[in-house]
Amino acid sequence: MQISVVGTGYVGLVVGACLAETGNDVVCADVDSTKIERLRQNDIPIYEPGLEDFVRRNQTQGRLTFTTDVAAAIAGSEVVFIAVGTPPDEDGSADLRHVLGVAESIGRYMSRETVIVTKSTVPVGTALKVQCAVAKHATHPFHLCSNPEFLKEGAAVDDFMKPDRVVLGVESDHARSVMAELYAPFVRTGHPIIFMDIASAELTKYAANAMLATRISFMNEIANLCERVGADVDLVRKGIGSDNRIGPSFLFPGPGYGGSCFPKDVKALIRTAAETGAALSVLDAVEDANQRQKQRLFEKLQQVLNGKMKGAHVAIWGLAFKPNTDDMREAPSLALIESLLQAGATVTAHDPAAIEEARRRIGDAIEYAPSNYEALKGADALVIVTDWNEYRHPDLDRMKTSLRQPVVIDGRNLYSDPKMKALGFTYVSMGRGVRS
Ligand SMILES: NC(=O)c1ccc[n+]([C@@H]2O[C@H](COP(=O)([O-])OP(=O)(O)OC[C@H]3O[C@@H](n4cnc5c(N)ncnc54)[C@H](O)[C@@H]3O)[C@@H](O)[C@H]2O)c1
Repeated sequence: MQISVVGTGYVGLVVGACLAETGNDVVCADVDSTKIERLRQNDIPIYEPGLEDFVRRNQTQGRLTFTTDVAAAIAGSEVVFIAVGTPPDEDGSADLRHVLGVAESIGRYMSRETVIVTKSTVPVGTALKVQCAVAKHATHPFHLCSNPEFLKEGAAVDDFMKPDRVVLGVESDHARSVMAELYAPFVRTGHPIIFMDIASAELTKYAANAMLATRISFMNEIANLCERVGADVDLVRKGIGSDNRIGPSFLFPGPGYGGSCFPKDVKALIRTAAETGAALSVLDAVEDANQRQKQRLFEKLQQVLNGKMKGAHVAIWGLAFKPNTDDMREAPSLALIESLLQAGATVTAHDPAAIEEARRRIGDAIEYAPSNYEALKGADALVIVTDWNEYRHPDLDRMKTSLRQPVVIDGRNLYSDPKMKALGFTYVSMGRGVRS
């Protein structure tokens, strides 16, 4: 099939590369000419395991091309994906300017009957706005489809190639059959394509992210309670996660959720509820809990250092909002660094992938270490923010001798509490009230 993907960020690039991988002819278009130039050289602007191979192979074989000419990309395509950003507006609602701008361009430049697929996460009711924007200039029939994306950064290629499910909101038989054909290679193992109306598809994406954010905030608050009552959240987690009505995923306590999706999607859903007069107060609580949780690591460190933060030198392991990505949007590390600098501490940080991104965001306000052990040199404490695999089994003796004081604040419960204490560390983790 002839496909174009407008917006070549995390989502658009993965969608384009994976659709080319299954034999389609895909043009990825973006207004960012630097990004497009890099992609033409197979230089991937984001850190995403497996993506470079897909881009290189499909570009070499001529199925995948990159352009800044959005109009040319749209013309001739049977299916156009809209995958541009939907950042939060000042009131928390999703800013639809990019989506609607692309929709107008599609109306203007389409040259045949076209299926227009919204991949961007957009609030319920957006399809109607897209329809109006396209219709302003359209001279050919078009069909709308809402196809929310559930990929996880860090596992995006795998998630797209082997999705748990594909959600497709459609209103015409043509859109239904084109999209079923396009996705057939990805659901061969029996994972379902779930067809529904467009409003339900739009809401499904927000409901999924809001549910996951709710689990995270719930477990973070349970962890904080564990500390007060002398319970161990790791045991509570196993105890509830083995109930198959609950399940084991997304029950790990941590320094709060971040990233490009949960914070903005929770805000946008709160806004949609407010606009319609529906009560969604549970999400206000989820957001509040998350804001407080982002300060927990700083508070724990402050307590261990008896409030002596001015002049303290702190090592941080992990800057990305989660492992296997360089994405730092709304990362808990940013809140921690801000509090540390405000309190007069200095910081040296390590991250396997996000140093370049951190430099772009915070420049030389902190120092960056080439290895996790280097970051520890002369530090009064280590704070672990992101659970990268390489931090799971470090040389603990080397850690202890590198640090000026053997203080570890572990935001991800990576190590055994009794073992760390037996080795002489002052070790503070999350929600392990019994033993800390
Ligand atoms: N990142 C994720 O994990 C994820 C997962 C699921 C859904 N989503 C949703 O997908 C959408 C895209 O997210 P992302 O993370 O890929 O964003 P991103 O910021 O990484 O990429 C968006 C891209 O769109 C381009 N763009 C903006 N306006 C354009 C225009 N008029 N024409 C062409 N290109 C344009 C930008 O230059 C940028 O490269 C958002 O709605 C997001 O909520 C993201």
